[in-house]
Amino acid sequence: MQMRIAVIKGDGIGPEVVSQALRVLKTIGEKYNHEFAFTEVLAGGAALDHYGVSTPKDTISVCKESDAILLGALGGPKWDELDAKLKPEMSLLKIRKELGLYANIRPVILFEELIAASPLKNSIAEGGFDFVIFRELTGGIYFGNKEASPNFAYDRSEYQDWEIERIAHKAFDEAMKRKKQIISVDKANVLETSRLWRRTVSKVAQNYPEVKLEHMYVDNAAMQLLRNPKQFDVLLTENMFGDILSDEASMICGSIGMLPSASMGEGNFGLYEPIHGTAPDIAGLNKANPIATILSGAMMLRYTFGLNNEAEAIEQGIKKALKKGFRTEDIARNDTILGTKEMTDKIIANI
Ligand code: IPM
Ligand code: MG
Repeated sequence: MQMRIAVIKGDGIGPEVVSQALRVLKTIGEKYNHEFAFTEVLAGGAALDHYGVSTPKDTISVCKESDAILLGALGGPKWDELDAKLKPEMSLLKIRKELGLYANIRPVILFEELIAASPLKNSIAEGGFDFVIFRELTGGIYFGNKEASPNFAYDRSEYQDWEIERIAHKAFDEAMKRKKQIISVDKANVLETSRLWRRTVSKVAQNYPEVKLEHMYVDNAAMQLLRNPKQFDVLLTENMFGDILSDEASMICGSIGMLPSASMGEGNFGLYEPIHGTAPDIAGLNKANPIATILSGAMMLRYTFGLNNEAEAIEQGIKKALKKGFRTEDIARNDTILGTKEMTDKIIANI
């Protein structure tokens, strides 16, 4: 089976971390006899510089013809002054929307080896934790009507019940494979979209009598992530709340450089990307943590191609390298600090 993967390296540290993830995937290909066909296409700032548009038509069509997309990160200060519609970040939103990738899955795992790197107290982080965020990705305030004039602006947050239903089903299906617990996050004490969210999620829950559903306000959830992250198993939430909470969740795992993500629609097609941004301050310095992107590659093997052993091999390779004390700067305490490439060498050596 030939696996067709569209590769969007992106901006800032994107190219560095994606190149390393590709090395890891090639290692897996050789070891397990798989043929990955990578097609590189441009989006975001790199596409703006090259073609004058941030999402070339060709990029969308190559993505649509592929089985999966591996993406670094898009954006950067160089393009900050551009008109909102032209910004590289819009390219990412466009790709997600055009490909119908409404379910953003962000596993939040604190590896035991990284407890010292977590800003949480040892008494809270002890033993590590493992939960997953299901973030709705193609609706809400990101995609509603918006307008701006010099003295006034608005962004409308809108949800249709079916948009909530389909992501809720994905989250409940996942909960059935885990501890059968969902915490659905909203702001139902204030927002109409959240009241619709809560009603709809409760209705979907009736199809999953074994799953325990709890609702939590987003402000409380932000606090609970720091107070007791172990209470979460599946955290289900709308687009913007999920964006914010997942950055918070990444930090308690030691670094935003640790968290991968998968964005899925119906079927096995997926877009895989680290949750971090382009980190322009360290771009090109071989300092970025490649683990989030490498783990995104593992998610791709598991979700799009059903290659569970191969995904597991990558995850174990990372764990072993961490256990031996190898770290990039963001997660180092008193450990050997390695560059992006050298950290990947250690991971590959342990696969
Ligand atoms: C993310 C990012 C994006 C988002 C940005 C770059 C548009 O922060 O994937 O979390 O807000 O979804
Ligand atoms: Mg974000």
